[in-house]
Amino acid sequence: MELLFSFLILFLKTPCVSSWPADKCLFYSDVEEFPIATTCAGKTNTADCQRVADVKEDLLGLPSNLRNLCVQMDQDYHGALAPDSFARFVSLDYLEITGCFSEIPPEAFNGLTNVTSLSLALEGCCEVALDFSHLPSLNSLNLSKYALSLLAPNVFEKMSHLQKLYIYEVCLKDISEVLCRLANVKSLKLFHLSLNQSLNRLQYPNCSVFNTSDISTVLNIEEVRLYLGTLEYIDERALEVLGNLFELSFIAKADFLRDLSLIGVHKINTLGVTVDVLHFEDFCTAAKLYSIESLQIHYESINLLPPTNITDGCEDVKNITIRNNLFTETVNLLDVYRFFQIFRNLTYVKIIKFMLSPNDFYYLCATFPQMVKQISLMFLIKNKMDEIVSNQFICFSDLGTLDLSMNNINYINDFAFIGLNNLKELNLCRNKLSYIYQHTFSGLYGLMFLDLQGNPIIHIEPKSFGHHLINLCTLLLGDLNFPPGIKLNLSDIFGIIPYNLSNILISSGLRPMQLVIGSNTTLDQALNLHIKGQYVTVEDCSSLLLTSVVTLKIDAEYVSCGNEFIGKYVQSVVSLEFNSTFSDNIGDLAVINQLVHLKTLKLENIEFTKQPNVAVMFHNLTKLRTLILTNCRFFFLDGSLTKDLKALTGLVLIPKDNVNILQNFVEHLTSLKYLHVMGLGLYCSCDNAWLVSWVKDNRKVQVAMSKPTMKELQCLTDNGIDQLNFIGYAKETCSFEIEFMFFASTSAFLCIFIIVVLSYRFAGQYIVPFYHIASGWFREALRVNGKHQYRYDVFVSYSGKDEHWVMEELLPNLERRGPPFLRLCLHSRDFQLGEDIVENITDSIYASRQTLCLVSRNYLSSNWCSLEMQLATYRLQVEHRDILILVFLEMIPSRLLSSHHRLARLVKTRTYLDWPQEPEMHEAFWDRLWCKLSFNKAN
Ligand SMILES: *[C@@H]1O[C@H](CO)[C@@H](O)[C@H](O)[C@H]1NC(C)=O
Ligand SMILES: *[C@@H]1O[C@H](CO)[C@@H](O)[C@H](O)[C@H]1NC(C)=O
Ligand SMILES: *[C@@H]1O[C@H](CO)[C@@H](O)[C@H](O)[C@H]1NC(C)=O
Ligand SMILES: *[C@@H]1O[C@H](CO)[C@@H](O)[C@H](O)[C@H]1NC(C)=O
Ligand SMILES: *[C@@H]1O[C@H](CO)[C@@H](O)[C@H](O)[C@H]1NC(C)=O
Ligand SMILES: *[C@@H]1O[C@H](CO)[C@@H](O)[C@H](O)[C@H]1NC(C)=O
Repeated sequence: MELLFSFLILFLKTPCVSSWPADKCLFYSDVEEFPIATTCAGKTNTADCQRVADVKEDLLGLPSNLRNLCVQMDQDYHGALAPDSFARFVSLDYLEITGCFSEIPPEAFNGLTNVTSLSLALEGCCEVALDFSHLPSLNSLNLSKYALSLLAPNVFEKMSHLQKLYIYEVCLKDISEVLCRLANVKSLKLFHLSLNQSLNRLQYPNCSVFNTSDISTVLNIEEVRLYLGTLEYIDERALEVLGNLFELSFIAKADFLRDLSLIGVHKINTLGVTVDVLHFEDFCTAAKLYSIESLQIHYESINLLPPTNITDGCEDVKNITIRNNLFTETVNLLDVYRFFQIFRNLTYVKIIKFMLSPNDFYYLCATFPQMVKQISLMFLIKNKMDEIVSNQFICFSDLGTLDLSMNNINYINDFAFIGLNNLKELNLCRNKLSYIYQHTFSGLYGLMFLDLQGNPIIHIEPKSFGHHLINLCTLLLGDLNFPPGIKLNLSDIFGIIPYNLSNILISSGLRPMQLVIGSNTTLDQALNLHIKGQYVTVEDCSSLLLTSVVTLKIDAEYVSCGNEFIGKYVQSVVSLEFNSTFSDNIGDLAVINQLVHLKTLKLENIEFTKQPNVAVMFHNLTKLRTLILTNCRFFFLDGSLTKDLKALTGLVLIPKDNVNILQNFVEHLTSLKYLHVMGLGLYCSCDNAWLVSWVKDNRKVQVAMSKPTMKELQCLTDNGIDQLNFIGYAKETCSFEIEFMFFASTSAFLCIFIIVVLSYRFAGQYIVPFYHIASGWFREALRVNGKHQYRYDVFVSYSGKDEHWVMEELLPNLERRGPPFLRLCLHSRDFQLGEDIVENITDSIYASRQTLCLVSRNYLSSNWCSLEMQLATYRLQVEHRDILILVFLEMIPSRLLSSHHRLARLVKTRTYLDWPQEPEMHEAFWDRLWCKLSFNKAN
């Protein structure tokens, strides 16, 4: 026995580990499971660790069969990366480390024999020597923000499998620092270099390999991409050793043709140049000389050049991007017609901030239609084309994508898009369109995607998206501004709902909107519906079209049918996102519990404290896998919410205000794998204390806590002003609970053992009451909601031996006095037959507004009575209300009383009534007692 106790004490005294690994790492076997995008996102069997200070310790909880690992060091950590830091992860394939270290010895990578890809995102110009010799399988290396000069000359050479080398934003004084280290790297196939600062001078690599005069050594790398910034001085043949370039980007100081000739390469697949003054002739000369297929031209000049003569040389260019880098006015350097004469073989065109005239297109199609017929993607963005004329694009017969966003287009002629028989995607977002006519989109038989967002639409003619748009799959429509009030009839604008329709966005911006479906069509495929507006009312929610909705996204105060939330009309919904504005009019969201197919639920900016049925809101959602509650206000979070969420794997909590989270909140979440908590503020209450040990010790759920982390977590005291460190508070004030949880969670077997070994009397005295206190506490917590209707006014706690007095005196005098009439709960009369007696007691106490204890010698000697009193006093602590009334049926000697600590304390701090022995005093006693009980009822 004693041994057992010393073991227990040892257990409880185990010092708190000072770090909270659970804060730092998340492991996910399947990326789908976790809703928050992280650095390592998109990979499976992955761990993502943030703010790491000690790699070994902080990664302790991760499984050793990890395949991908992303480690972001704490900003303040600048120490060494210890040897064997990752040795445990023998199956690791991808490793990413962000941070700067004072030292990274080769042994830091011990054991990583299977790592093929390493990414070191260091900081600033991190100065640390690197050696990858302990990574025998490495074939892809990504280095950034690093001072390259610290690498050994043969560092890459020793990596026999190195195929891909990415060097981004590194600090270089001289390109030799890179090129010389590549000289003998035979395996390299791909090399990307991007500089964040400009090299003063681009030099021929200064190392012996490249200086042997007779043989000019050429690196044989298949794909070289260089982003070099500004080039001031270029030495002759500077990049000759690279042979061909797949991509070269730089900012030219003066004559970029001369720069290219100095660089000394033969072929450049993609050339990106920023120039001051744009000469198409130069680009076409370059295109011819270097067999360029893709040109990216950024220009800054507003110098107008004389009309350019038709130039040869650009006929093999397939891709062109022209962007005016100036913030100033769009300028017209070249008309459309000449442009397409110069670039007559394009498939991809992107022109940004370049004045284009619609009539030029018209003219082009009328005269030389063959010049553009092979173009498949065309982006004409911010080009100040204020209208689209009829037949404007008639010769673009191969065009699949046309993006005309941000052009100030305010008018589209009927039949403007005729001829675009292959067009699948048309983007007209952020223009100035106010009218959509029946023939605006005529002829777009192949169109699948139409984006009209961000247009001030005041009228849509019936059937505008009708018969001709038979393949329409996505329609993004907004921002409607119909006068006098916005009423959109879906069936009207379509005529017939397109057969393939699967995505609709309807937005009225910040205005209210009325929506009419007007059709009972059902769709074979899933419909994703996104509604935006100030608030939205739907007129015919019973329309069968709504039963096709599988994804519903609402960005509005509310979307309602009558006065109800739309929820129950979209029974097939699998994903629901609702971003409200703390509106009081959203209706009862409890209908969400009818959406039994829900897999994802995201609620944002919602006032749960004004919802009448929070407790049942998420019931029945047995398929729900992801629940995200962002910026919502709750009184508390407890098990009633999560009762049915057996399939939930990911939970994100970003509460708006301070909250209480009861332990039973996580009890039912048997599949939970990830809990992400951000911006948490708790009340200083021992209700929340379980969280501390649970976050640390539970092995099933990974908890990521940020802003604050568990260590930084503060709690708000009862006075509503003071903040305490929560861990400190919990340790000091609730240590019994914490230790109990710790004990309970880690040594259930001990518990059972104790129960078996200890006498019933002993157990009855300590363990059973504790269990009931706790369970009563949780039950009570469920009721804090305020809407709770008490079944009884008074639970009467008394000894069976005093039953005579209760029946003869108490009952007639209390129940018949009134109004208001009091409802009493007596165990002999009101307990549910067949139910566990202890359950009955807790239930009755919490189903009653207050508890009346009838103290007598019999009462003190009864175990049940003492349990009843414990539970009642516990509730007294939580509720801070006058809910416990003591009546002494006889004089109890203080010697006897003092052995009942709880009662003795109560007697000291509370008023109580004595049952008077004199019969003439009885009436006054009943008056007082009745007054006290009914006063509480009124409050
Ligand atoms: C390392 O990779 C090889 C080949 O992919 C694999 O067969 C082996 O099991 C891996 N080793 C470990 C420890 O996972
Ligand atoms: C042209 O651009 C398209 C789309 O970005 C791309 O898929 C294609 O590879 C590019 N072609 C060339 C030659 O760069
Ligand atoms: C255009 O061509 C004409 C005659 O071929 C020539 O006189 C003129 O200089 C050229 N203009 C430019 C800007 O090259
Ligand atoms: C377009 O390019 C193809 C192959 O790249 C070439 O054969 C053809 O001559 C070019 N067309 C024109 C009009 O230059
Ligand atoms: C669609 O069907 C419902 C009943 O299923 C009916 O109440 C409603 O009037 C119908 N709407 C139309 C536009 O036919
Ligand atoms: C939710 O709506 C608010 C404004 O109503 C907006 O600021 C916020 O970005 C929205 N959240 C998301 C995830 O779109």
